[in-house]
Amino acid sequence: MNSLWKFYIMKVRDKHFKLFISEEELSSKVHQISDAINQDYEGKEPLFIGILNGAFMFAADLMKNIHIPSEITFIKVSSYKAMASSGNIKELVGLQENIFKRHIILVEDIVDTGKTLANLITQFKALGPQSIEVASLLHKPDAIIEPVEVKYVGFSIPNNFVVGYGLDYDGFGRNSRDIYQLDEEA
Ligand code: IMP
Repeated sequence: MNSLWKFYIMKVRDKHFKLFISEEELSSKVHQISDAINQDYEGKEPLFIGILNGAFMFAADLMKNIHIPSEITFIKVSSYKAMASSGNIKELVGLQENIFKRHIILVEDIVDTGKTLANLITQFKALGPQSIEVASLLHKPDAIIEPVEVKYVGFSIPNNFVVGYGLDYDGFGRNSRDIYQLDEEA
């Protein structure tokens, strides 16, 4: 088995994945998003809110290139199966900051069906922020069920399952520096 094989293929639990977006491509795109935010939010002292667990790596790299005065915090969302009949309700866990009149940037790993963000945005809007925008590293337009406006998108990707750079399969694979996509043929 040669080293090239190891580089392009990754096994996570019972599934095989193939290289999809390299560390270099990710880095360059994350820099572009930071640059845009630095320009758009000059003088606004935004509060970034990273959505755990998936966004931890994207949020960390994004913040390294944010040069304007800003804060970052993290939240989790929990789904309540008991309320599944009303549509996969997700509740905010862990927001300590007062976001009234603040400029909020939600930092997400991926927008898939859009349900998580649509729900969160409704909950955040009720807390009276001055503005609320979304920065998502990935976006799967073909999977969308609840449309959300995403101001900063890294990559629009096909509706395939991906892991790495914070994204997991069954809890594993988040630590990869690159993003891999499910290899259906393996
Ligand atoms: P949504 O509510 O359907 O938009 O789902 C958003 C969440 O589902 C993301 O924050 C991820 O945690 C997870 N997710 C969606 N697609 C993928 C994927 O391809 N790989 C890993 N996690 C995913």
